Amino acid sequence: MKELKNLFDNNREWAESKLKDDPKFFSKITTHQNPKYLWIGCSDSRIPATEILKLEPGDLFVHRNIANLFHHTDFNSLSVLQYAIEYLNVEHVIVCGHYGCGGVAAAMGNEQFGLVDNWLRNIRDIYSREKKLLERIADEQERYKKLVELNVIYQVMNVCHTTIVQNAWARGNKLSVHGWVYDISNGKLKDLNCCISSIDQIEDTYCTLELH
Ligand code: CO
Repeated sequence: MKELKNLFDNNREWAESKLKDDPKFFSKITTHQNPKYLWIGCSDSRIPATEILKLEPGDLFVHRNIANLFHHTDFNSLSVLQYAIEYLNVEHVIVCGHYGCGGVAAAMGNEQFGLVDNWLRNIRDIYSREKKLLERIADEQERYKKLVELNVIYQVMNVCHTTIVQNAWARGNKLSVHGWVYDISNGKLKDLNCCISSIDQIEDTYCTLELH
């Protein structure tokens, strides 16, 4: 018996239902993709990016990792960002975190989980930097939620600190980087209103445009 037969069965059913709704569904997206947005989200299985935005295949370019981090030395996320902006011409980059994020929780505790602790170190840096603000919040759940939000805001900044985004702005490209949080308890998105659309919104230390 074929392993994971249920998944192949599901897939066949899905492909057939897509064709039933639109006989040209696959032929329309076979030769190219034209997504309008880049999604940088958490790997968490409860957040299927395309589905929660009610979008279709071809609409959303996606990068996901544990705790939706954008490390400035991570060639994976940097390559996704560069390709999305320079070749797919996306105008919106969405960094989306989520309440109940295990990665953020792990970064708040003292337990070791292995290699992943190193990946999550950046969140500890954020906690340390924002310690005063965070520790004013007495309720632990609320503090956890705040760190989820702060993590998103810091990753939005990390995206904007790349030469990739700054060069796009220098070329006059329309490009906005958004910070959102998804609530797994009700399926709703929250806009953190930290959208960055120009170099003027970036702290001088991180501006690289003078080099050009
Ligand atoms: Co998560």
